[in-house]
Amino acid sequence: MLTIDAISKTFNPGTVDAKLALDHVSLTVEDGDFITIIGANGAGKSTLFNAICGSFITDTGTIWLNDRNITMMAEHKRARYIGRLYQDPMRGTAPDMSIEDNLALAAGKGGWLSMVSRRDKQAFRDRLALLGMGLEDRLKQPVGLLSGGQRQALTLLMATYNPPQVLLLDEHTAALDPATAEKVLALTERIVTENNLACLMITHNMQSALDLGNRTIMMNAGRIIDDISGKKRRKLKVEDLVERFKEAAGQALDTDRMLLGT
Ligand SMILES: Nc1ncnc2c1ncn2[C@@H]1O[C@H](COP(=O)(O)OP(=O)(O)OP(=O)(O)O)[C@@H](O)[C@H]1O
Ligand SMILES: [Mg+2]
Repeated sequence: MLTIDAISKTFNPGTVDAKLALDHVSLTVEDGDFITIIGANGAGKSTLFNAICGSFITDTGTIWLNDRNITMMAEHKRARYIGRLYQDPMRGTAPDMSIEDNLALAAGKGGWLSMVSRRDKQAFRDRLALLGMGLEDRLKQPVGLLSGGQRQALTLLMATYNPPQVLLLDEHTAALDPATAEKVLALTERIVTENNLACLMITHNMQSALDLGNRTIMMNAGRIIDDISGKKRRKLKVEDLVERFKEAAGQALDTDRMLLGT
């Protein structure tokens, strides 16, 4: 469980460029909660992830991961408990290393082939087969040869190989073609459900925001302005979501960049 209590962050404080990016944000994410996050550009979504990961120490508030107060914990230490994916498929994998070596690293085998047993290799193959992309037959190939979608799917496998306590997905399918995005989203759902992970997924695709997970939050100007779950959410259509945003934010979503779904 992730508990965020009243965290704030101002960039460039005391200057003309001062920007209040997080304004006393509070959020509780239970294990098994799969929360989709929507909001306009600059709403503070990625900054919220950066705060959770420890890219900076927040100005106010506390962050708990289960019974551990991680508010002051160094980023590299938090990385043990937190899995994160970005929009860019080039992040999160080492291009010159083989698929096998990348997975070995993710599995905590240090990337040394000598430490990868035959059983490990079979486990890698089994997991790769779940992707339905034929990667299980390409263990020795460098990751740099993979397509963006294949690479992002592999990154997802790696980030969850040893299930993290929280999984943060920052528009992780935005750069993929629709068919591949669909595959990666299906895999995301499967991994989150099977491991009962606490997951937060930022998306600009309103349909995905409603289709995936069990809860949707809206962010605007550094604050959470709406939090929808249960029956209310199940009945919601994309138009309703856009309308709710307008009411809560006092302005329309920048629908140019928003994918309103099909
Ligand atoms: N390192 C930084 N230094 C200064 N300002 C920053 C920094 N990181 C983010 N900001 C500012 O904080 C605000 C929130 O940015 P953030 O990246 O969290 O938005 P976002 O909701 O993820 O938007 P998008 O949908 O475009 O990804 C923006 O005004 C941004 O310019
Ligand atoms: Mg962002």
